Amino acid sequence: MSRKKVTILDIQKRKQKGVPITMLTTYDFTAAILVDRADIDIILVGDSLGMVMLGYSGTTQVTMDEMLHHCKAVARGASGALLVGDMPFMSYQADVAEAVRNAGRFLKEAGMDCVKLEGGRETAVSIQAIVQAGIPVMGHIGLTPQTVSQLGGFRIQGKTAVSAQSLLEDALALQEAGCFAVVLEAIPATVASHISQQLTIPTIGIGAGAGCDGQVLVYHDLLGLYDRLQPRFVKQYGALGEAITTAVQTYSEEVRSRTFPAKEHTYPMNEEEEAAFLAAVAER
Ligand code: KIV
Repeated sequence: MSRKKVTILDIQKRKQKGVPITMLTTYDFTAAILVDRADIDIILVGDSLGMVMLGYSGTTQVTMDEMLHHCKAVARGASGALLVGDMPFMSYQADVAEAVRNAGRFLKEAGMDCVKLEGGRETAVSIQAIVQAGIPVMGHIGLTPQTVSQLGGFRIQGKTAVSAQSLLEDALALQEAGCFAVVLEAIPATVASHISQQLTIPTIGIGAGAGCDGQVLVYHDLLGLYDRLQPRFVKQYGALGEAITTAVQTYSEEVRSRTFPAKEHTYPMNEEEEAAFLAAVAER
């Protein structure tokens, strides 16, 4: 059953009405069907797919081709959620024109509705150019995984008064540049809450407390599918990793004990045809 499509206007109205926005990452066709069915507002095809789908140690290795491949699969499965494609590291940093062209590929080739970029004031010029080209942009500040080595690791941001003030300046610059929403990742709740009050565009928090206008989690974290990195802000709503291992173990045991496949999993043969076949085999 298809849903009514969520638009950027709907997302902005949610903030005005004080209705929390729900966002979740998704990376493939089947997951997109399931997540969309759960009525989520926004699906983010995040570059976190580098870690949870491709086994990289971080997100900097992720390429445009890998992002577009997963975005296309998600777009084929989702019908209602607003679709955000995450621009990978070095697809928008070097040159403004290249940033616009790469952002365009997410809409033109991969069926996304908008793109997300990491970074504060330094990305404002590119964001402005992308928005002017007619492509809606979601910003992302705080812990920005693409520049994790510059940040000195996966660490909470904006813990001092000076760095918190700098995050607020970044958020205001992104709003000014034309972002329709901004992700706040791993920052103290009071800072996120204050930024959310100062902005007219919605904030979507991950590890940023309940004062944001919406929340985002990584699909694999929410479902308990990935245990290599477990930040404090993750809440597991399922234990699918364990469920998968148990199901596969049971399958292996049943194959080894010849209890699978059973009669109900097997195609029968017409009795006469079977007899004729057995007779022919016996004559050989
Ligand atoms: O790539 C991603 O999954 C993200 C979210 C954590 C916001 O950027």
